[in-house]
Formats: sequence, C-alpha cells, structure tokens
Amino acid sequence: MKDLAVIVKPLLEWYEHAARVLPWRNIEPDPYKTLVSEIMLQQTRVETVKPYFNRFMQELPDIRALANAPEEKLLKLWEGLGYYSRVRNLQKTACAVMERFHGELPQDHKQLLSLPGIGDYTAGAIASIAFGQPVPAVDGNVIRVCARLLNDHRAADDPLLKKEIRNALEKIYPSGKCSDFTQSLMELGALICLPGNPRCAECPLLHCCLGYQKNTASILPVKKKKLTKKIEERTLLLFVSPDLCSGLQKRPPKGILAGMWEFPALEKHLTVNELKQYLNDSGIRFSEIKSLGKYKHVFSHLEWHMLGYLIFCTEKNAALTWVDAEGLETSCSLPSAFKKYRKDLQKYLTSGAES
Ligand code: ADE
Repeated sequence: MKDLAVIVKPLLEWYEHAARVLPWRNIEPDPYKTLVSEIMLQQTRVETVKPYFNRFMQELPDIRALANAPEEKLLKLWEGLGYYSRVRNLQKTACAVMERFHGELPQDHKQLLSLPGIGDYTAGAIASIAFGQPVPAVDGNVIRVCARLLNDHRAADDPLLKKEIRNALEKIYPSGKCSDFTQSLMELGALICLPGNPRCAECPLLHCCLGYQKNTASILPVKKKKLTKKIEERTLLLFVSPDLCSGLQKRPPKGILAGMWEFPALEKHLTVNELKQYLNDSGIRFSEIKSLGKYKHVFSHLEWHMLGYLIFCTEKNAALTWVDAEGLETSCSLPSAFKKYRKDLQKYLTSGAES
C-alpha cells in the first residue's frame, strides 16, 4: 500500500482550526470520557450522542460510579441510543477495570482489547486519543478517507483493506500528536470526506488524493454487499387498566433488547377477531379494543413489522408490571422500537379517552 506520510502535516494543520468543539474533546484527554464517547459513537451520530454523553457524565462521572450503577439507571441513561449491549458491556468493562486495573483504564492496546465490548477500533481510539500512543482507530469513516486517498476499489468491508489501512497508518503516526492525528482523520471523514457528496474543494488532502485525481472519490469505497434482513411480524398488546396504567413486561435476559421493558407481543399480525379470540382463550377480560396501526422498526440485522392494539382491560393481569403515564416516561427504559406506540398510548393514559 502507498505511503501515506504526505497526509500528516496538512491534516494536522487543518484539524487545528477545523476541529469541532465536542463535549468529550478536552485539552487534557480523559480516558473515561474517551471510553464512554467512543462506545456511544459506535453506530450513533455525533449530534445524537452529545446530550446523552453530557447526561451520562453528570450521573456517572467516573469509572467507579459506572461500575456501581444499578442496571435500571444505566438503561434509562441509554434509552433511545439503541444497541443496548453496548451499555451492558461498558459496565462490565468498568467492573473489570476496578478489579483488574485498580480503577485506571489500561494504556496498552492488548490490555484494552481484553475488556468487554472493546474491539480493535475502540482500543485504538482510547490508546491514541486518551494516551497519545501511535495506534490507529480504523472505522468506516477512516476506511472511506483512505480508500479515496489511495483510489482503492476494494469493498468497504474487505478485512484485508482494513488491515492494510491500519498498517499504513501505524507507520505514519506523528510522535507527540497521536491524539490529534486519530481525531483529525475522524473529523475529515465527518466534515469533508462525506459518504455521498465529498467536499473535495475544501479538503486539505486534495493535492495528494488519488480518488480526487481519478474522479472516483464519490463512488469509493465500493459498497459492501447488502445483508438481507430477517422480518418478524409482531402484534403488540398495549393493555390499559381502568386506573389508566399500561401493562409492561421485561424481555428475556438474552437476545435482542435483552432485559429491556416491552409491551407484550404475539407473533404474526392478528386481526381484531383473532385478537379477541386470543384474549378470550387466555381469560383476559376487556371492554374495548382499538387498532393503532402498523409501524416498522429496523435493527441492524432484523426488522420488526409491528401492529399495535390498545386493549382496555377490566382488571390488571398480575403477570405484568403496571405503570402510569409518568412512569412510562421516567422510570422504564422502553427501547426506541416502541416509541410510536408509547406516544399513542400516552394520549390515552393522560386523557382516559376510549374513543
Ligand atoms: N466518531 C467516532 N469517534 C469520534 C470522536 N472521538 N469524535 C468525533 N466523531 C467520532
């Protein structure tokens, strides 16, 4: 792979004036902030992460607080960010750091990799950003920047491409500026070397970008093959009790949205008559049923095609946990997948209207 040394100076000079002010970017890098922000930023946009990050730091200001936090508090702080295994692993990592590293995140890339939820990218980001070590952090943004610089036409998810980029970057990390160098690559990917419409005219690396010279930047990197997503049809049962509470249950401890609260659900889409039959067969007494329509939620590998029904029941089923309108907002971590129905439901819980 071509030597990338020419990018270092112009990229760092550009970063000095172009870097955004972000809550996790300190003059004095803080490893805990780097850890939490990098985990939040996996699969989530910077603007979305900002308020979550600030709240997280206020509530859990250090590794010890994170290690000792009750699960409900953690899930509440993460509610809406998705990919909840991230926050569970984050806490496992905090516990491991307390137990194995006396409460200090290790600086060594290999030791970082041994922690739950920390892969090569996150270990590289922490080692370089927080500890100033010459370790690249190669994510999708960095792959895009480098594939264009090198006019490399391999697929974005080709493991060999990633490995070669990692090796090429490792060789050129500037001593004393490793933290800025990692962040400048990320920043270029976020602000200039955009996926669809790269802003080449403003790019500090224009003069050494083969993708720009060959006019291929906007089509690189070559798209990865699309995975076909599994589709699951679900009928959501939004039970409303006579005293205007909603019946929730916890999801199983393993699998998608493990341990989160949810509305009870049945497989497949049921018609109103099929639903009535089910409720009668199950001995659930109700006064009225109202359809809330369909809603689709897309996970990384799966789609839930949901159909929601409000069920005004005449008694509270003891197998469910019942929360009022306020509890539904504040004390339960209900994943984003249910946000449409939660909003619809709130109208009924606050007004009591059955029609
Ligand atoms: N994306 C991933 N990590 C980031 C960081 N530290 N700053 C900005 N964007 C990022």
